[in-house]
Amino acid sequence: MVIRKLLFLTAALAALLAGGISAGAASPADTISTRQANFKKMGGAMKVLKEELAGGADKAKMLTAARTIAATSRLQKGLFPAGTGPGAGVKTDALPAIWAQRPAFDAAAGKLVAEADKLVGVAGSGNSAAVLAQFKAVGGSCAACHRQFRADE
Ligand code: HEC
Repeated sequence: MVIRKLLFLTAALAALLAGGISAGAASPADTISTRQANFKKMGGAMKVLKEELAGGADKAKMLTAARTIAATSRLQKGLFPAGTGPGAGVKTDALPAIWAQRPAFDAAAGKLVAEADKLVGVAGSGNSAAVLAQFKAVGGSCAACHRQFRADE
């Protein structure tokens, strides 16, 4: 009995590991749609911040939006592996420059993470001038990367 249980557990563990490995090697199409969905999510959070700065200035809403950007921005650098550029056969606005100038792209991605973290630091403070200034800094790091690395920008 004990041995059968052990065998069963070993098989279950092996299946789990195999699943984990195949999930790690996502297809280019999946990787591209994940990063696009993440960018959209950050776009939505920026819209919330813009609206709150223009009116309600709801601290909790702004903090949640800032946290969304901070958490999501951390995922993006890892979602541009080789083979997910314009040649992947899937629609993407990612420019080949991302892979030709990888250190600059990674720096632009890191810059957003740093600015988003600072936004989290002020978003719930109630200091609208500070939130607005940091909102602009975040927006500036979105735009700087788009100018260099995104098509149609
Ligand atoms: C490090 C570079 C970089 C940064 C920083 C960056 N973006 Fe982007 N963004 C891209 C690239 C590259 C694409 C194209 C992705 C693709 O089509 O595969 C993109 C696409 C998008 C899209 C379109 C997604 C879609 O539906 O196809 C939106 C919206 C967007 N970004 C918003 C933002 C916002 C908001 C920020 C800042 C909070 C931001 N991005 C920061 C590089 C960046």
